[in-house]
Amino acid sequence: MPQLAQRVGRAKPSAIMVIAEKAKQLKAAGRDIISFSIGVPNFLPGEHVYAAAREALSHDSGQYGSNRGADVLLDAFLQHIGALGFSGYGRMNLSIGIGAKQVLYNLAEALLDEGDEICFAAPYWTTYHDIADIVGARSHVLHCGPEQNYKLTPAQLDAALARRPKVFLFNNPSNPTGMVYSGEEIAALAEVLVRHPETWIVTDDIYNSMVFDGIGYHNFVFARPELRQRLVFVDSLSKTYGMPGWRVGLVAGPEPVAKALTTLNSNHITSLPEVISAAAVAALAGPQEVPQARCLEFAGKRDIVVAALSAIPGVVCPRPQGAFYAFPDVSVAFGRSHHGVRIGNDVDFCAALLDATGVACVPGSAFGEPRAMRISYTCPTAQLRPGLDRIAGFFAELT
Ligand SMILES: Cc1ncc(COP(=O)(O)O)c(C=O)c1O
Repeated sequence: MPQLAQRVGRAKPSAIMVIAEKAKQLKAAGRDIISFSIGVPNFLPGEHVYAAAREALSHDSGQYGSNRGADVLLDAFLQHIGALGFSGYGRMNLSIGIGAKQVLYNLAEALLDEGDEICFAAPYWTTYHDIADIVGARSHVLHCGPEQNYKLTPAQLDAALARRPKVFLFNNPSNPTGMVYSGEEIAALAEVLVRHPETWIVTDDIYNSMVFDGIGYHNFVFARPELRQRLVFVDSLSKTYGMPGWRVGLVAGPEPVAKALTTLNSNHITSLPEVISAAAVAALAGPQEVPQARCLEFAGKRDIVVAALSAIPGVVCPRPQGAFYAFPDVSVAFGRSHHGVRIGNDVDFCAALLDATGVACVPGSAFGEPRAMRISYTCPTAQLRPGLDRIAGFFAELT
């Protein structure tokens, strides 16, 4: 048989999907499973989004659309990012993709040649490392453990940028930790970024509308507008509007970058489907009650999760302030046993937890932090407390 391309050998199936798959199998076999594993928002968009999709269907052109995105969608996105605090952008600064994941993949193609360095903080969203591997870039990972609230410091960033990486990839609020950088923290990092003009900055901030405790969303360009000429902002409808299956990613950045992404689109996806685009406009420009209500709900669930985990002796759970994840350090369990099953590391821990209690969490090593595990807490509240009780019970039974 002929050989597959080498880059495919570098592609790995998502570690998150492996756990989710196992949980699904156990459920099919009749086990009572509570899934804290997949990062899905678990709500649907408002009725106006469906109405816009139905309306678009009724006068469907049946044609290909724009590689950059329909003008009406670009205008809705401009309005949306304007409300977030981005100013001075026009349609030529924008492009679209089939979800933020495809936008990020496109960006890797557009900004990184083989052998180039990309740096990002750990814990990181698993896909960052995988996309870098596929395009043949070298990942330089900056470890930010629970002792520093999983946040990158200006000194760490300064040292990393001294290596002149081609791209610095940043994620705020964070998947998997739920951490959010304050305006002051963003401004301090922005001061470092202005001193290193040879590096592109990609801010994957798709959870920007899910920020709690009034700390707000901040971007480096709010603090230092001159960074706009090399900063790319990535957004998505998936989490904010409960639309992960609709696959809409959006991007704002310097014109040459937006143009490069649009050219890549012209060679693979061509365009977003017309109906999806109409639904996206309705989500962005229509009433915002659904995302606002969900953000409040997630803040409440965050409180429940942090209280339950912090009550477990030895577990450290830095307090998330956004998204819908918690990332407790569970390493106190390592070297111990659960009913004779030895737990050596995070993977053993999550496997034993799932087997013994039916609770599915993702091992932290999937995100570059093997002391922790990720809890995605968007499940119905009726499952949240029992799931957390089972985790506490599991710890209590360790010997
Ligand atoms: C940090 C981060 N970026 C990007 C994505 C991809 O989102 P999309 O559904 O728009 O592809 C995710 C999805 O989990 C994510 O957590």
